[in-house]
Amino acid sequence: MHKLSFLVFLFSAILVFSFNWTNKKNVYDHYEVDQWGVEEALIKLGDSAYNHHIANLDPKKAEMGKDLVFKGFTTYNGKKSKRISPYFVCTDCHNTKRETGLERGLGMAHPKDNDPEKRLAYAIKNDLPFLPGSTLWGIYNRTSFYNGDYRKKYLGLVDKAKDDLPEAIQVCSQYCSSGRSLKDWELEAMMHYFKSEELKIKDLGLFPNIKKNLLKYQSLDSGEKRSLIYSIKDEYFQSYPANFSYTMPKNKRGYGENGNPKAGKELFERSCLHCHGEKRVTYLGLDNSKLTGKFFLKYMKGYRDQSLYQIIRWGTYPKSGRKQYMPQYSKEKMSDDQIEDLIAYMKKLSQK
Ligand code: HEC
Ligand code: HEC
Repeated sequence: MHKLSFLVFLFSAILVFSFNWTNKKNVYDHYEVDQWGVEEALIKLGDSAYNHHIANLDPKKAEMGKDLVFKGFTTYNGKKSKRISPYFVCTDCHNTKRETGLERGLGMAHPKDNDPEKRLAYAIKNDLPFLPGSTLWGIYNRTSFYNGDYRKKYLGLVDKAKDDLPEAIQVCSQYCSSGRSLKDWELEAMMHYFKSEELKIKDLGLFPNIKKNLLKYQSLDSGEKRSLIYSIKDEYFQSYPANFSYTMPKNKRGYGENGNPKAGKELFERSCLHCHGEKRVTYLGLDNSKLTGKFFLKYMKGYRDQSLYQIIRWGTYPKSGRKQYMPQYSKEKMSDDQIEDLIAYMKKLSQK
């Protein structure tokens, strides 16, 4: 081949390739199955419906449920309902959007990658808070709640809630929120809201060949169906793992030495300030000031609640007369390295 025509060929090949690459997302969007709910798909493949299955979504109830999640009250029979909690709303501790992306291999958390560093990168890219509770996005499609160390810590409290979504909501309305349990209509409204936000096939990172198979589910044998069920369930969290940690012992602490202050700033703003900014849910007001930096550095070395090594791993407890408390962060929600990043940022603030 002539040298020049070879170059032209190579160039157009690259062009076609990159065009396909950037258009990949659109290619995915064209599958009819994309609009199927994940539960619907699983039932088609022979899986049983969830215990909390909702056959007919009622948009009015869903709207009220949304109010309850975001505002803590709604309008019922023409009247403003009583707040679930005087202290918190659900979104103080839980996101309602996806926290992991669909992109694979770009340093971003893929649908089922729970790594807190990658989740932070995703939160920055999509301007989300970074919170101690798991996201409520996709909660309709989960079947197991308060997992890992939450089970050990709360024993009797979560016994009924561990595989029962309405019960899990009740536990959090009453205990996590320092509030009260929901009335039947409130619980139903919230369930309809979660149903309205259920996962669709398009929310999963399934490859086109899997989607094509799904479309012809009626002609598949039971082995093929089972394998499809497996592929679908492998694309999102059936449950969120949780491992608690102790306060880091003094000889392991880096005191921010190798921490990344830029990541620390993001953590501080997306997590701590979500509640402590303008003293929103607590008397302790924090901000990006020198004073805040010095406050944390002063207590950093010890084992008190004001030490970042301690507060993040233990949180605080509701007391009688003072029911607002800080939830602890499991290792999945904030890593030890991220605590170092936060401290590195506090050092930077203190030198302002
Ligand atoms: C002060 C913080 C806080 C508030 C407020 C709060 N939660 Fe939670 N919630 C948590 C934590 C921490 C967990 C532990 C499990 C997890 O999410 O990883 C949890 C767990 C849950 C779970 C089980 C999730 C799972 O995957 O295991 C549900 C459902 C839930 N909350 C719903 C709600 C609802 C609905 C509200 C509002 C009425 C609410 N929460 C308010 C902190 C909170
Ligand atoms: C979900 C809301 C929430 C988040 C997120 C949160 N806090 Fe808190 N924090 C609280 C509440 C509520 C208290 C209890 C103080 C009170 O009674 O007002 C508290 C207490 C504390 C205390 C102890 C104060 C004392 O006097 O004992 C420190 C220190 C603290 N938080 C730091 C942080 C840091 C650092 C972060 C981020 C990693 C963070 N908080 C994230 C709500 C939150």
